Amino acid sequence: MEFVEGKIVEEKEFGGVVFPKTLHPPNGVYEANELVEMVKGKREWLCELLQRHSAILFRGFGLFSAQDFGRVVEAFKWDEMGYLGPAARFKVADRVQTANEVPLDQLINFHHEMAQAKQFPSKIFFFCSQPSPEGGETSIVPSHIVVEKMEERVPEFMAKLSQTGYILGLKTRKDNDSSEIFSQAWKLIIKTEDKAEFEERVKEKMDCSSVKFNEHGSVEFVHGPMNPIRELGGRRVWFNTILGYTSDERDINLRFGDETSFPLEALDAHKKILDETCVDLKWEKGDVLLLDNLCVQHARRPGKPPRVILVSICK
Ligand SMILES: [Fe+2]
Repeated sequence: MEFVEGKIVEEKEFGGVVFPKTLHPPNGVYEANELVEMVKGKREWLCELLQRHSAILFRGFGLFSAQDFGRVVEAFKWDEMGYLGPAARFKVADRVQTANEVPLDQLINFHHEMAQAKQFPSKIFFFCSQPSPEGGETSIVPSHIVVEKMEERVPEFMAKLSQTGYILGLKTRKDNDSSEIFSQAWKLIIKTEDKAEFEERVKEKMDCSSVKFNEHGSVEFVHGPMNPIRELGGRRVWFNTILGYTSDERDINLRFGDETSFPLEALDAHKKILDETCVDLKWEKGDVLLLDNLCVQHARRPGKPPRVILVSICK
């Protein structure tokens, strides 16, 4: 059985390459088993397609459950990766977790999955178990295009950034609180009350230069000086955020590597570029989205319940 190449209205084109590439089943009613077999039979072709398009949407394959999704992921034969980060994620099936428990009315800003960790996934899969009745799109953006546009629009900022790098502080709130994006999980992941040991364990896993314990019990993870732009998979991609994961500026502490402050115009240019370059994917029930995490950033637009998007990450 052959995949049928399709189109979605939201898709965009960069240098003649469609983003994302959409695949449908051949005519007829489909079930998860058939997609599993098709993936197994066309694995190499799918890998090449992903290499070219960076994002593939599988639509109309009759997937209904987390188990179905897990079997599709497994068919690609990439090694499973465990999640390390601030989101609260719960396992719902083999290789499948909930995406994020943060209330749906909050934006989760653009990021590469686990960009602040020493080891990050090369691929990320999303599965739409239940689309949001309104909004709730997963937004995706090709990160190398972000670099190109930033170089065009704010060349002086980019020159300084490559010279000094930048320092990124990401702050948590005091307690585990599922209503905050960057709040939680740390105490659960790094199980110690000892601050020095906490810092040591964090540094083992995260690309983190220090951990600050602020008043009121919040913690700031300090990354850098580093360059947010990395060469990955043969492309120069905007790998580390300069906007933070939330829309709350208090959650982020940002400066150049020489401790001077970031110009607001550069941050505005960055926001604008993300917004004009991204594709806001309007989910349909049963959709599977496969992203090359080395060159695509993703975000969650505010939506309304019920919305259930599941996730799986691969080494
Ligand atoms: Fe994510």
